[in-house]
Amino acid sequence: MKHFLKETDFSRAQAAEVLTLAREFKQNRGQRLSSVLAGQTWAMIFSKSSTRTRVSFDVGIHELGGHPLFLNKSDIQLGRGETIEDTARVLSRFIHGLVVRTYDHADLERLAASGTIPVINALTDFLHPCQIYTDAFTAAERWAGPGGDLLESLRGRKIAYLGDTAFNMANSWILGASLFDMKLSLGGPADYAPGEAIRGLLRAEGRPIDFHFTTDAYEAVADADIVYTDVWASMGQEDESNARAKLMERYAVTEKLFAAAKPDALFMHCLPAHAGEEVAQAVLDHPRCVIFDEAENRLHTQKAIMAVLAKAAR
Ligand code: CP
Ligand code: NVA
Repeated sequence: MKHFLKETDFSRAQAAEVLTLAREFKQNRGQRLSSVLAGQTWAMIFSKSSTRTRVSFDVGIHELGGHPLFLNKSDIQLGRGETIEDTARVLSRFIHGLVVRTYDHADLERLAASGTIPVINALTDFLHPCQIYTDAFTAAERWAGPGGDLLESLRGRKIAYLGDTAFNMANSWILGASLFDMKLSLGGPADYAPGEAIRGLLRAEGRPIDFHFTTDAYEAVADADIVYTDVWASMGQEDESNARAKLMERYAVTEKLFAAAKPDALFMHCLPAHAGEEVAQAVLDHPRCVIFDEAENRLHTQKAIMAVLAKAAR
């Protein structure tokens, strides 16, 4: 059974297929419904809030000909203590695929290991792979040009990731940059350097630990093709908001910091954004800010991810 729990669960060939299919789905949108998931029901179990991921998966499953079933964790018995394993076994008897947003990445792995249906990571504290594939597609559709090789267009490009360099988005860029052959420089407070879990995963997969970490925001953005940031206090870290804001203030993407990247650099953010905190309003309004393309592309890219998983399951 093939799952998509982390970026590297797909080979480079499958990653190329995701990007190409995303472009096709984007071009064909509104012309016809695909039948990739015809007759299938895919459920979404969410333990955290979501706008983009929830809506894009709901619409995407529908547009692939399937039936989306949203399950808030607190509405099902999982929220009252039924085990993850039994939940996976029971749902596997009814449905064809599962999209899961939760806290502990190990819970997602247990769910995937216990059922007999494909599972997609819709964000954990450790990784957010659907977002990374979408962001890669968003850059590649610009860089490759019409009909160009999307995956190849990413090779050697540099991402500068600023702010909280120890959580899901930073970890996911570390894995994504390795898969897509991109360079990555992370700029954040010393206490938030990428942790042992992501380093251990790279080692376990035989990947070089070649990302660069610095406490100097300007060093991180030098020569960057993409300047990326995320909220400083993620879901579940609300109590740490003030302390994190003090520590991460130096990594806010101001106009001045954005201007220190390449002259044609893109600004990206997974959203939701907090103007005046991790990013200045002027950067959000900048012509090279592509945040709403990223949001739209969640739909096309996740349809492509589901199509590749459905193909692997046949
Ligand atoms: N970027 C992202 O995953 O957004 P949501 O939390 O709204 O799903
Ligand atoms: N790091 C953020 C990402 C939200 C899409 C969080 O986990 O809350």
